[in-house]
Amino acid sequence: MPSFPAPRLAEIAPFHVMELMARAKALEAEGRDIIHMEVGEPDFPTPEPVISAARACIESGRVFYTPALGLPELRAAIAAFYAVRYGVDVAAERVVVTAGASAALLLTFACLAAPGSEWLLTDPGYPCNRHFIRCFEGVPVPIPVGPESNFQPTVAHLSAHWNIRSAGALFASPANPTGTVLDGEELRAIAEFIRQNQGQLIIDEIYHGLSYDRPEQTALHCGDDIFVVQSFSKYFNMTGWRLGWMVVPERFARDIEKLAQNLYISPSLPAQRAALAAFTPATIDILEARRAEFRRRRDFLAPALENLGFRIAARPEGAFYLYVDCRNLTADSEAFAHALLESAGVAVTPGIDFGSHAARQHLRFAYTTGVERLAEAVERIRHFLG
Ligand SMILES: Cc1ncc(COP(=O)(O)O)c(C=O)c1O
Repeated sequence: MPSFPAPRLAEIAPFHVMELMARAKALEAEGRDIIHMEVGEPDFPTPEPVISAARACIESGRVFYTPALGLPELRAAIAAFYAVRYGVDVAAERVVVTAGASAALLLTFACLAAPGSEWLLTDPGYPCNRHFIRCFEGVPVPIPVGPESNFQPTVAHLSAHWNIRSAGALFASPANPTGTVLDGEELRAIAEFIRQNQGQLIIDEIYHGLSYDRPEQTALHCGDDIFVVQSFSKYFNMTGWRLGWMVVPERFARDIEKLAQNLYISPSLPAQRAALAAFTPATIDILEARRAEFRRRRDFLAPALENLGFRIAARPEGAFYLYVDCRNLTADSEAFAHALLESAGVAVTPGIDFGSHAARQHLRFAYTTGVERLAEAVERIRHFLG
């Protein structure tokens, strides 16, 4: 007898932060002032040149399907972006435009995951990753990581977790929820380890462009056999446009194209036309000013939270998150997050959204609001802590 929903659904977890956000909204409806530090998206509006490009597209009325892998001119613009920003040569034929990094990850595992194949991920890490894998009957294998390795994987971790069923790994740099960056040499060694074991490495670079301390290196420097996932959501401040991309090894481009054709036909045309304006000097100037603002926020918030008794054990070099150790202040970060929202009107994300390794000892603070609001949040937390 069939059983519905499919058994895999039992392993698809909701976002805990959604409940917190719902409660925050309810409190706001009652007239409470809530400071949102749980939100994983930039608070800045879409840059004006991007809006103008979208407007022109829509006003033309010529809003049709595009090729499944995206507009050729956008794929070429993305390839050119890699040449200009990173000095790396990427053929436009390897660029796949998608509905956000989310669709890129979906296509990746639809293409690569065989039933029972094991995929290494970090714990803590981006919660949806294990679900993408599970949806295609693969098995997500968490690697517990902590401050001793900067919350990033090492080759030693890979050797300890690799077995006959292992198919590959997905890691992010800068990472969500920690903002830490995978060291260039370690990344090279990880790529080589996976190559030697005939596996597939996927690197999520969605927070590229939002690094504050040193120049960024793309994993594409480590070989043309790596899947690199990117998006217009974060650095480009375009979350709601639902557009991203990935660079795939040449031998998978045709398979990915077949999947995209069947799964959603093509990415949104207005979003793609808009994104063509994302690489222009006028837009990059706007984005670089915003990057500087994010850095200012991080440099304000990190020491302020440490003064309150939180510990930031690994240097958050990028993204817009601080993953703080709260064990000096509470034994249960989830209960703490709920109490903080109710009493102080400050919304943050509990560690359990990102895995189970030391999750109840951690909270994620997103600095996706201005410095004045961050300062107000710090004062409210100080008062909450008594
Ligand atoms: C690490 C990571 N990867 C992928 C995504 C998906 O982003 P999008 O689909 O908006 O590009 C997110 C969103 O927060 C993320 O944090």
